[in-house]
Amino acid sequence: MPADWSAIEALPSPKLTDLFAEDDGRLARFSLDVAGIHFDWSKTHLTADALTAFEALAKQMDLAGKREAMFAGQHVNTTEDRPVEHTAERGEGNDESVARAAQYHARMRTLIDAIEADALGPIRYILHVGIGGSALGPHLLVDALGRDHDRYETAIVSNVDGTALEDVFERFDPATTLLVIASKTFTTTETMLNANSVIQWMTANGVDDPYGKAIALTASPDKAVEWGVDETRVLPFSEGVGGRYSLWSSIGFPAALALGWDCFQELLDGAAEMDRHFRLTALHENAPALAAFADLYYTQVRRAETRAPFAYDERLRLLPSYLQQLEMESNGKGVTKEGAPVGRPTAAITWGGVGTDAQHAVFQLLHQGTHLVPVEFLAVIEAGDMLDADHHRQLLLNAFAQGAALMKGKQVDDPARSYAGDRPSSTLLLDTLDARTLGALIAFYEHRVFVNGVLLDINSFDQFGVELGKEMAKEAAKGGGDFDPSTTDLIKRAGLD
Ligand code: F6P
Repeated sequence: MPADWSAIEALPSPKLTDLFAEDDGRLARFSLDVAGIHFDWSKTHLTADALTAFEALAKQMDLAGKREAMFAGQHVNTTEDRPVEHTAERGEGNDESVARAAQYHARMRTLIDAIEADALGPIRYILHVGIGGSALGPHLLVDALGRDHDRYETAIVSNVDGTALEDVFERFDPATTLLVIASKTFTTTETMLNANSVIQWMTANGVDDPYGKAIALTASPDKAVEWGVDETRVLPFSEGVGGRYSLWSSIGFPAALALGWDCFQELLDGAAEMDRHFRLTALHENAPALAAFADLYYTQVRRAETRAPFAYDERLRLLPSYLQQLEMESNGKGVTKEGAPVGRPTAAITWGGVGTDAQHAVFQLLHQGTHLVPVEFLAVIEAGDMLDADHHRQLLLNAFAQGAALMKGKQVDDPARSYAGDRPSSTLLLDTLDARTLGALIAFYEHRVFVNGVLLDINSFDQFGVELGKEMAKEAAKGGGDFDPSTTDLIKRAGLD
C-alpha cells in the first residue's frame, strides 16, 4: 500500500514567530541533548501536529521494524541483497557482524602497532589515496581532530587530476612515506591510477621496495593482493559496510594511525552512543528521527529543493562535503524499493559552507532570495583556538544571530532593505569537538538519512546512479563509445581521440 502523506501535506504553514508566541514550551518541546550535542529545532516549522502526522507515517512505513532489521543484519539493502553493517563497526548490531568487525579492528590495530614500531621502516608521512566514501570520511576525521597531533603528516588525495598528487610529492619524502590505498572495490579508476603513480614516484626516488610501503583498505582483499600489497598489510572490511558509511572500518586507518587508537576507539564509542539513542528512544525524543521529520516537512510540504549546513567551526569545514555524499548518494533516488517511481521529491540538494565566511558570500540569498533553504548551524562551545577569546565569542554569536535574523526578518519602507523572515534554521551545538562527540554527530547524520529513506520508501544503501558515467568514461578511455556529436567534438578538440 503506498504511503499516505495526506495528513502531512495538509499541515498548515504557521509563522515561526507565532509558534513561539503561542507556546511557552516550544523551545523545550523541540530541543534535546544527546551524546554531548544540543539539538534545537525550535526555529523550524515543526509543530505538535506535524510530529503526530510524521509518527503516523513512521508507523505506516514500519520505521521501527526496518530499524531493527538493519541492526539485526537483515538484507535491507535489497537491490544489492546485502546487510547494512556500519553500526556493527561500533559494536551495535547482530553478534556475527559485530564479532567480524572486532576481528578486523584487531588486525588494524596490530598493523598500526607494527608501523609505530618501525616494522616498515621509519614512517613520517601518510599518503592516503581513495575517492568518495574512501576519502571524505578519513579526510574529515584527520582535519577535524588532527590539529594537535604531529605524529605523522597526512595527505588524502582523491582526484585523478595529477595536480593533486604532485602537490603532495613536493612536500613528502618518498623514503618515509606510507602509501595507503583505500578502495572498497579495489577497481576504482582514479584510486588505482593514483596508487600506481605513487609507486612510480617512490621507485623513481630510490625507494627499494615501494610495494612494501603499501597498505590496502578494502572489502576486496584478493584484488589488493593481486595488485601487489602483501596479504599481511591488507586490512579488510565487510561488503555490508557501504562506502559512504565506511569511516568506522579500516577506511578510517589514516585517522587511527595519525591520531592514535584510543582516539579512534572514542570515535566508535560516540557513534555507538548515538546508535543506542536512535534504536531505543521514542520518535518524539529521537534526534535523527526529529531531524528527518523536519527535512521531510521542507522537501514534501514546502517543496524546498536544497538544505544548507554551515559549520561555524573551522575544524568542521569538511563536514558539508562529507554530508553531500552521505545524503545525496544515499537518498538521491527516483524509484521506491519496489522499483516504482517515487512520485515525490527525494533528497534535498545538500550544500553549505563555513561560517562566518559564508555570511559574506551566500547568505544574501538565504535572507532575501526567492528559494526557501532550511539552514543548519553547527557550532562548538569549547573553542578550537588559543587566541583571544573574542574570536570564538564572535564566531558563536554570529551563528546564533543569523538564525535569529532568518526567523525574525525586518520590514522597512524600502523593499530592497526589507527581510521577509520566517526562514527556518536548526542548530546543533556541541559541548566540545572531541572524537567521541564527532562520532556521535556523524552517526546522527547516518540515521537521519536512514529515516528519510524509510519514509520515502527508497533504498538508501545503493548508488547505481554513479555507474553510467563511469562506464562511458571507461569506453572513451579505450577509444570507443557511441557518443553524441557534442561529446565527440569535445574529445577531438582536447586531442583525446
Ligand atoms: O562512484 C561512487 C562510489 O562508488 C562511492 O559510492 C564510493 O564511496 C566511491 O565510489 C569509491 O569507491 P571505492 O571505495 O570502491 O573505490
